[in-house]
Amino acid sequence: MADHTSADAAAGGLENLLVEERRFPPSPEFAAQANATAELYDRAAADRLGFWAEQARELLTWSTDFSEVLDWSDAPRARWFGDGRLNAAYNAVDRHVEAGNGERVAIHWEGEQGDTRTITYAQLRDEVARAAAALAELGVQTGDRVAIYLPMIPEAVVAMLACARIGAPHSVVFGGFSAEALHTRINDASAKVVITADGGYRRGKASALKPAVDDALASGDTPVEKVLVVRRTGQDVAWTEGRDVWWDEVVPRQDTDFAPVDVEAEHPLFILYTSGTTGKPKGIFHTTGGYLAQSAYTHRNVFDLKPETDVYWCTADIGWVTGHTYVTYGPLVNGATQVMYEGTPDTPHKGRWWEIVEKYKVTLLYTAPTAIRTCMKWGEEEPGRFDLSSLRVLGSVGEPINPEAWVWYRRVIGGDRTPVVDTWWQTETGAIMISPLPGVTAAKPGSAQTPLPGISADVVDEQGEPVPAGSGGYLVLTEPWPAMLRGIWGDEQRFHDTYWSRFPGIYFAGDGAKKDEDGDLWVLGRVDDVMNVSGHRLSTTEIESALVSHPTVAEAAVVGASDDTTGQAVVAFVILRGEAAAAASEASAEDHIAELRAHVAKEIGPIAKPRSILVVPELPKTRSGKIMRRLLRDVAENRQVGDVTTLADSTVMAQISAGMQK
Ligand code: WTA
Repeated sequence: MADHTSADAAAGGLENLLVEERRFPPSPEFAAQANATAELYDRAAADRLGFWAEQARELLTWSTDFSEVLDWSDAPRARWFGDGRLNAAYNAVDRHVEAGNGERVAIHWEGEQGDTRTITYAQLRDEVARAAAALAELGVQTGDRVAIYLPMIPEAVVAMLACARIGAPHSVVFGGFSAEALHTRINDASAKVVITADGGYRRGKASALKPAVDDALASGDTPVEKVLVVRRTGQDVAWTEGRDVWWDEVVPRQDTDFAPVDVEAEHPLFILYTSGTTGKPKGIFHTTGGYLAQSAYTHRNVFDLKPETDVYWCTADIGWVTGHTYVTYGPLVNGATQVMYEGTPDTPHKGRWWEIVEKYKVTLLYTAPTAIRTCMKWGEEEPGRFDLSSLRVLGSVGEPINPEAWVWYRRVIGGDRTPVVDTWWQTETGAIMISPLPGVTAAKPGSAQTPLPGISADVVDEQGEPVPAGSGGYLVLTEPWPAMLRGIWGDEQRFHDTYWSRFPGIYFAGDGAKKDEDGDLWVLGRVDDVMNVSGHRLSTTEIESALVSHPTVAEAAVVGASDDTTGQAVVAFVILRGEAAAAASEASAEDHIAELRAHVAKEIGPIAKPRSILVVPELPKTRSGKIMRRLLRDVAENRQVGDVTTLADSTVMAQISAGMQK
């Protein structure tokens, strides 16, 4: 592991979290009506597997019931509900229609431009069936992979569920990722079809998507046979005859009787790529039964969902796991009514989100700390202009939430009334793992607190021994859970190495954490070479590779420096190649850095663009050649540079710091 991977390093600067003493118990009224009571912990503790079986049977409809809850004999590859059979799309839409709830609104969709669509469960069911029939016509069969590269429009959810209806695992690629990133993901999963759109609206403008798909497929080395294109913005698109098909020419003419394909519980539902510690993204794959059971269970209990009356809104994009579990699967399996919004929070004005909350009378809101901090920056007047009294639970996910942001969220958005649930989980865990229960837990700002009933987590030291209360270490998951990843697509070894080898037999999450005197957990952030920028995982190595792929860069080191708004920000240090360094004049240096930033955006996506790039003469390395990012982070965060004695050349840091002062 790299030099800065100790949990203490992750804790740097966050020590103050642990002196937080404010407590926010649920009101008696909230507690009295809550779905989850303290008894849920007892039930799960008494018979963990029996508890999960109960949840899976209560919350899902199985075409064939299961007899075995968990088979862990081939650990770490779990089989949950292994001999059960079901279909995810049937559970998300059809069964609600069959139960007489077809007229309930599934999605209140709000376009950035103010256009809206209201989609009932009956309509959603029919659209999913038609889209599945269209995909089948394009050659998609059970088991085939389909890439989805769409903006936040209802077709994104429809496309995911249409794949699930066929039993064709989807691989959603965030629309902000580049053609190159899309190309890698298409090939890694061998996707046969890509579903995209001409474009989407962002920041008041039509932003094209189709050209990135065309670029990704231009080299001709992908297995893609068809590209299904949703018409959203109406902008001009290049067209490849025989390959490209308009959604509105093939989907609407299909019958609605395309039946859900019954699959085994362990049939792959989706692949979702996430950054790891090497340059190559990991294709995390999830299966059907366990994933859906935990998605529905957590959505129901953590948000206290009442499907008949609540209006739920998760602001995540479907390109991330939060969009998978808490936009598409959890809420729809639970028959919830939800809001889906296409655009950015400040278009056309900084109160847009709050206007949406007022308009749809949103009751349950789920968002990220970075968004909350941004709203804090914009000021209380923005939300203050709207009626937010419908809200009754607020959720946070994606990175540690600072106590101040937590308290602001509750006070300004939640009217000092709503429980706030700080939910810890990962792409790999599939669903929420550690979180308060809103009707039970006396919440502590900044702490995710307790593993949910049915989940086992702990904080361990270097040897894998649980740390005593009041100490820090590594966050681990000590028992298998239904929504756990079943592997890394096509890379069994990496699955073992990344998660199961640090502490044999238990899952290593890659986060540092502390256990306080009450036994509550405080997640402090990554202890590996993964950064968290605005709740998005980015790999330092991946950005370094992107920089080095530019002809003028000889070497690069990237660190995540703390940032008030985005949590962390990407700061890069580069050594230029001799010719480039010689040619660089004062005047051209700025342009050159702009070019390098644009290059990273092109290689990975705009989210990976470094906040700053510093040209340096050398990088600090240990005698074995490992870059000491810890020291670069000191520079990036304007701190006194730490211990340099393990450097091969101890003058390097002085050179870098001198260069910074120029
Ligand atoms: C971080 C997002 C602190 C953590 C669902 C984790 C958090 C990574 C929290 C996963 C939280 C997520 N408190 N840190 N409540 N939630 N994280 O895969 O570092 O995009 O390992 O999944 O985000 O990010 P991912």
